[in-house]
Amino acid sequence: MTGPVPELADRAVACAQRLLETDRVLLASHIDADGLTSAAVAAQALERAGIPFEAVFEKQLDEAAIAGIAAREYDTVLFTDFGSGQLDVIADYERRGAFTPVIADHHQPAETDTEYHLNPLLVGLNGASELSGAGASYVLARALAAESECEIEHENRDLAALAVVGAVGDMQASSGELHGANAGIVAEGETAGVLETGPDLSLYGKQTRPLPKLLEYASDVRIPGISNDANGALRFLDGLDLELTRDGEWRCWSELTSEEKQVLASALVRRAVSRGVPAGRIDGLVSTAYVLSDEPVGSELRDASEFSTLLNATARYERADVGLGVCLGNREGALERARTLLRDHRRNLSAGIDLVTREGVTVEDNLQWFHAGDRIRETIVGIVAGMALGNGGISREKPILAFAAKNDDELKVSARGTHALVGRGLDLSAVVGEAARAVGGDGGGHDVAAGATVPKGEEEAFLERADAIVGEQLG
Ligand code: C5P
Ligand code: C5P
Ligand code: ZN
Repeated sequence: MTGPVPELADRAVACAQRLLETDRVLLASHIDADGLTSAAVAAQALERAGIPFEAVFEKQLDEAAIAGIAAREYDTVLFTDFGSGQLDVIADYERRGAFTPVIADHHQPAETDTEYHLNPLLVGLNGASELSGAGASYVLARALAAESECEIEHENRDLAALAVVGAVGDMQASSGELHGANAGIVAEGETAGVLETGPDLSLYGKQTRPLPKLLEYASDVRIPGISNDANGALRFLDGLDLELTRDGEWRCWSELTSEEKQVLASALVRRAVSRGVPAGRIDGLVSTAYVLSDEPVGSELRDASEFSTLLNATARYERADVGLGVCLGNREGALERARTLLRDHRRNLSAGIDLVTREGVTVEDNLQWFHAGDRIRETIVGIVAGMALGNGGISREKPILAFAAKNDDELKVSARGTHALVGRGLDLSAVVGEAARAVGGDGGGHDVAAGATVPKGEEEAFLERADAIVGEQLG
């Protein structure tokens, strides 16, 4: 079989065969939307192939986490959405016979390699835009179906829906649609009947936000007099010749008929044009939507983007079990719990953005930064940094770095850039990795988004080093 990503076929088969030879597997994954969906894809694939497993989640795969994993005495450990960047440490354990690693990841690999290693970057594919951790896990799942003696329905193609949620959660559709290896996965999901795609309004919240809120909160494409303007959004909707309320409640975009959507979208575009929004920005009002066909209309699980936010609201708050439950189909307890967590997550993000826009960033020669201390949770400071870039007067011309307290001795650093900067040579994984190691920390990630841990008090030295490296990359 060649699988959905032919370049990775050989590696996927080798990994699958190794897993099929094992009695039991420890599945270790990362605590974000991509990590959760990676684990959910792998969990279902292992179960269908009859391989017993246990799942654990880590905020970060540092030496302590790897030691903890080794202490569980599994012969085989399947790492998803991390592992490549820590291969130097993992390979040490492997050499000492602690466990055999199988890795399905998309982060920048460390120098060392290992036998069972599936990563788009090893075969010339982009790990930040063409394949996510969940995508890598999906490639493995498809190989497990092909290599297993069990009869597996859809040959695991139905897991493509979760893989797409992971990719969207990792912002891999930020150009408007998924491309590269991701597009092949989307196509398999459509074939299996679990995904529908098509052009749609690009605003976040099409399934669950009442129309006035959908328009008011839209931050990617700002429409003067509507975005960030509750009364303006209401006046705009009232001025349309449409029945937009039902039993006194505002309807959601997902409940509208296609004719109603058309009328509303055209009116939005007319308003944007009349208020002088440039054509290039207006095009951004429409992008490809990824809809999970099996989920009910009006559920956040139906929209890949809303689904991924719901997952971040669980795992980034130490409730990966809840997010995994939702991914695995638990629609009662887990979904209710996740929705409660989502309300807190939203509040935290909004407070985080307020903080950054209120206090602003410090602009250096080649980068800009802010220090949140303990006012933004370290697990979401990267999301806040990404949302701040280009908003509230914060420029997109320089990458943004953010510090947040991690514990008594260490700080978390999150870095976010733009595709335009990456096009000019920016590689944040190298920036934060090198700068962190220079001050006794460590880090890595992707060219466009990366993170690190550094000792407290080293902020200035770290920033100086990072600023110089960005300067070299962009110079
Ligand atoms: O660890 P992982 O690869 O799953 O995380 C990727 C991170 O990079 C996510 O937080 C995602 O939002 C961020 N990202 C970004 N912009 C991109 C691509 C990824 O902010 N264009
Ligand atoms: O935590 P944050 O969202 O900022 O992470 C951005 C990217 O950097 C993620 O892909 C994450 O896995 C990676 N990262 C890393 N090493 C760290 C922290 C983050 O590789 N110490
Ligand atoms: Zn990922």
